[in-house]
Amino acid sequence: MKKPDLGYDFSYMLSESVGRGGIPESDLPAIFRDAADARSAFLKHVKSGEIGFPSSFGDKKALEATLALAKKIRAACSTLVVIGIGGSDLGARTLLRALGKGKGGMDVRFIGANTDPDEIARFEKDIPWKKTALCLVSKSGETIEPLSTFLYLRKKLEAAVGKKNIARHIVAITDPEHGSLRQLAIKEKYYALDMPPTIGGRFSVFTAVGAFPAACAGIDVAALLSGAQQTYNEFATYAPERNAALQFAALQHAAYVRRGRGITVLMPYADALRDLALWFRQLWAESLGKKLDRSGHEVSVGLTPIAALGATDQHSQIQLYNEGPHDKTITFIEVETFAANVRVPVARVDDGIGDLGGKPFSEIIHAERRATAESLAANGRPNGTISIGAITPENIGALLAFFMAATAIVGELLDINAYDQPGVEEGKRIMRRLLAERPRLKN
Ligand code: PA5
Repeated sequence: MKKPDLGYDFSYMLSESVGRGGIPESDLPAIFRDAADARSAFLKHVKSGEIGFPSSFGDKKALEATLALAKKIRAACSTLVVIGIGGSDLGARTLLRALGKGKGGMDVRFIGANTDPDEIARFEKDIPWKKTALCLVSKSGETIEPLSTFLYLRKKLEAAVGKKNIARHIVAITDPEHGSLRQLAIKEKYYALDMPPTIGGRFSVFTAVGAFPAACAGIDVAALLSGAQQTYNEFATYAPERNAALQFAALQHAAYVRRGRGITVLMPYADALRDLALWFRQLWAESLGKKLDRSGHEVSVGLTPIAALGATDQHSQIQLYNEGPHDKTITFIEVETFAANVRVPVARVDDGIGDLGGKPFSEIIHAERRATAESLAANGRPNGTISIGAITPENIGALLAFFMAATAIVGELLDINAYDQPGVEEGKRIMRRLLAERPRLKN
């Protein structure tokens, strides 16, 4: 398997480059030491089985089951409709957006992340129902948005393929034992894959939750997992001085607690990574925004993520980042080599576009990111750049594992439980009360 190619340049996070908003280089040894201690604590939780996500990178049995089912579904259908919300949705979207459809892959569509009737009505019209499979993803098996959407779309599917064939067109990804969805899958004989009980939704992209839709689309899931595993191994063993994920976590935490920079902007310079910024937004927000620390004291901490896109948001957000309140850090993601070699045509004399003629677009987008980073630094705004060599399955796996590891470390540093979401559950409970009763998963 190829080695992923990921680096982190934090020179513009330092006071030496950005002035008093940054972190003095002389503080780095202490900051990195604290992060390494947090990593030891985290690894203990992993060893005791309390934190499960690292086991998803190398779970061969789960991968085999996922690939075998994807093969079956691909042979029978041309379109996969993935129905999920939050962590049961954003990871798969990220993979599909970044890596696209592989050779012979299915068309993968997403719905269920909202209950907007107009969107559901528009969506159903565009589906080739006879050749479609529904994939309902819900760890709890009880979430209203995807379940209600599933019940609606299942009727359309049944009308197209018939009652006796429908079970071969439905895949449930859920808790191995608990919840209404598991019970329904058993009763109706749907295909089913497990969501491991120790892995929460936003940390589940490398389980069947992300891997099944990716495999259906023809993405090299083994390469994706290998990139994640290798990155995680480096994170778990490397000294802080050469440990990108640990450095990122340490500096984001330090910027928050020492400089009051509690807003984390993630700004990839590649359209293919737009959804990755949205996935990160959930991971960072839901994991780190907590009222109580681990001892039960009220702390109300959290870093607020913003998903941006370069170069587009240079013309929307950068004015604020450069001159607004000193409350943010900005992290760019740079793709060193793009797949397409597209150039601006050589200028005609009267075009008036000066030096742009003949330039590759890759050179333009790199210059845009560099210019933005430099201007932010000149304005005293700390920023860093994560770079990947190219958009490949290994590097996407590496990026996602990088952010999962970094989130875990910031959680440890804040001394909070990064793996629960009581603030989300509370809303779900109230919603159920308002809707009077749970959706009935009966035919
Ligand atoms: O990360 C999380 O745990 C949440 O965002 C859940 O994924 C989301 O609420 C959906 O829950 P479920 O998978 O139980 O339907």
